[in-house]
Formats: sequence, C-alpha cells, structure tokens
Amino acid sequence: MSYTRALSILVLAAFSGRALARVLTGRQVFDHTCHTCHARGVAGAPQFGNRAAWRKHLAKGIKVLEEHAIHGYYGQSFMPPKGGDESLTDSEVRAAVRYMVAAIQSGPSLDPHQ
Ligand code: HEC
Repeated sequence: MSYTRALSILVLAAFSGRALARVLTGRQVFDHTCHTCHARGVAGAPQFGNRAAWRKHLAKGIKVLEEHAIHGYYGQSFMPPKGGDESLTDSEVRAAVRYMVAAIQSGPSLDPHQ
C-alpha cells in the first residue's frame, strides 16, 4: 500500500470516527453541557422543567431561542454561545433547546392554568 493511500485511509477513519461519535441527542447535550446552569437555574438561567421560569423565553418563539442558544445572548443575565461548548454543532444545540422546551410543554408539572 502506498504511503498516500495509507494516509488517506487514516484521514477518512479519523473523520468518520468523529462524525459517528459527535451526533449527540438533545438529552445528551443537555446532560453534558446545559445542565450545569439550567438544571438548577444557576445565575438567572431558566430552570429545566420550570414553566413559570420559561414563560417569557418561550414567548419569543423556538427559532429565536435556538439562535440565542447557538450564538449566545445578553438578557437580564448572560447565556454563553452553545453553553460554552464550542465543539457542539448548531443542530446539537437546537436539539438541546427542543429537549428543554418539550420538557416544559409535556412535563409532569404541566398546569392548565398557567
Ligand atoms: C454558564 C451557564 C449556562 C449554560 C452552560 C447554558 N446556559 Fe442557557 N442560559 C443561561 C442563562 C443565564 C440564561 C438566561 C439569560 C437571560 O435571560 O438573561 C440562559 C438562557 C437560555 C435560553 C433562553 C434564550 C432566550 O432567548 O430567552 C435557551 C434556549 C438556553 N439558555 C439554552 C441553552 C442550551 C441549549 C444550553 C446547552 C447547550 C445552555 N443553554 C447552556 C446560562 C447557561
């Protein structure tokens, strides 16, 4: 096998390995990165599963929430881009946003009067 061919196989293996390893679900992204602040609602972060805390955020619509989660934003506090984990892809961050939003919309704490 030529050196170039061996090298190209190695490069391909490295890329496909990364692609396989990096497709995280919203829940995995949340558990790995977002929960640091959102599990308990640290430093002004809307707490996971807390409808009241999420109401004003949800009012912006899912697209805006996804953009803010990807690029970061300053509100009353600061949400860092991708929760501070630049290795996450945009679609992984979107999946995490949807995971958090789904937890409020269908969570056990669902209150019809809110
Ligand atoms: C270092 C703490 C921290 C981490 C980690 C973090 N967040 Fe946040 N996030 C915040 C804070 C604080 C806010 C509230 C900012 C405000 O409203 O002023 C926020 C707000 C948000 C909002 C509402 C945005 C809006 O426009 O109202 C979304 C969506 C969000 N975070 C998603 C995520 C996702 C997804 C992750 C993981 C990839 C994540 N966050 C990780 C601190 C964090």
